[in-house]
Amino acid sequence: MSLKKVHDEQPKEFKFSIGNLKKAEEILKRYPEKNKKSAVMPFLYLAQKQNDNWIPLSAMKYIANLLSMPYISVYEVATFYTMFNLAPVGKHFVQVCTTTPCLIRGANKIVELCKEKISLKENEVSKKGNCSWMEVECLGACVSAPMIQINENYYEDLDEKSAREIIDSILNDKPLKPGSYRGRKNTSPEKKQLVNGENHA
Ligand code: FES
Repeated sequence: MSLKKVHDEQPKEFKFSIGNLKKAEEILKRYPEKNKKSAVMPFLYLAQKQNDNWIPLSAMKYIANLLSMPYISVYEVATFYTMFNLAPVGKHFVQVCTTTPCLIRGANKIVELCKEKISLKENEVSKKGNCSWMEVECLGACVSAPMIQINENYYEDLDEKSAREIIDSILNDKPLKPGSYRGRKNTSPEKKQLVNGENHA
């Protein structure tokens, strides 16, 4: 996204919703008053969640004010961590793991689907404005490769068909349920296995 577009998209004001203000109060209880700026990361996370997965500059200023810290310090944290998005990504933000275990089990097909259905380039919002995608490194669910993360949810054990259905569902703002798409429970083996002649689930 161009710098001009990012600038144009910046809302002038940001405030936590009533629900997030309550959450912010709870978060602040974790820290001594003199160290309340330690809440900057959970506050940024709350702001990102409230604002369709990205953090505008006005939210950083708002958080700086709440935590009595310089705006530039909040900005430094927000720009350091890649999990904070600083430009619109759409309300369905797709992260496709393309590290080796996912790659050898077909992650490249999911990337092709994202290019076909969401946008040709990474970090580009779909035509409808509700979705974008990017490639990421291992998301820690290699046992269920290939997998994608959409907002906070993991979609695992995918193939071309299930990935296509999932992407269609978010493009239509009706996300399918997360989890394994081969019926795996947590990280357990998919089928019963014989070990020393006995059945083990
Ligand atoms: S390699 Fe994809 S989750 Fe680990």
